[in-house]
Amino acid sequence: MARVIGRKVLYYDRVTSTNDIARSLAEAGEPEGVVVFADKQTAGRGRKGKIWTVPPLSSIQFSVIVRPLIPASEASGLVQMSALSVCEALREFAESIGFPRPISVTLKWPNDVLLNGKKCAGILIETGIEGQALAFAIVGLGINVNFSMREYPDLAEFATTLADEFGHDVDRGALREALLNKLDAYYELFKSENSGRKAIFEAWRSRLATIGQSIRVSTGEGIEEGVALDVDVDGALILQRGEGTIRLYSGDTTVLKGREGRSLS
Ligand code: BTN
Repeated sequence: MARVIGRKVLYYDRVTSTNDIARSLAEAGEPEGVVVFADKQTAGRGRKGKIWTVPPLSSIQFSVIVRPLIPASEASGLVQMSALSVCEALREFAESIGFPRPISVTLKWPNDVLLNGKKCAGILIETGIEGQALAFAIVGLGINVNFSMREYPDLAEFATTLADEFGHDVDRGALREALLNKLDAYYELFKSENSGRKAIFEAWRSRLATIGQSIRVSTGEGIEEGVALDVDVDGALILQRGEGTIRLYSGDTTVLKGREGRSLS
């Protein structure tokens, strides 16, 4: 079947944000699957208005236009689809370069990818909505590749790069290809039928390192603490607080050191 994600790939030296370029293209009617890469973003952004910045030419930063026929309320499935794609692409990439030691690639709710327990990739999904429907979504992905977190001592406790974990720089072109291949495969599954989305949800859930941990979640409206019990198919995190549970839909998660929770499988 013809490839969808990556049917057209645009490379820029320098942009404000690849999400901005992809959004303009989507608003001008470009079909789904168009991918925008940039070597430098002057206004790269993360979730919750954070700045996303990496040294020029060091990493992988791109955005993909998708147009699944789903209600806007189900857009969280795209987070699961893209996080899982990055996770699987990194696992296979590590294998393909013959990395000798086992490497742990897991996910942190809601949409971070962890290498050996530290964030190496982030996902920012922005949407265009018409009525109740999703007209398009822009899946923005940033992966820390060929630089060292030693250059960012404030972040080094929580974040890492591929070069730091593998001990050497890697071929960004090969990694780009691996990422697009996985995104294409999982996007096809996502669009195929409900069972495809269920399979993606189950795979995403099984790779979430967050489940079973005692965590603090900064939601933007406040701070919640408790044990992450599970996730729901709509992407919500089910957090146990005392006797009760609450459901969270977004936030920044930190593990509470010394209070690692039970593994609830
Ligand atoms: C996060 O972890 O908060 C999400 C980070 C997403 C960064 C990527 S880099 C490519 C795309 N363009 C942006 O401005 N942001 C995303």
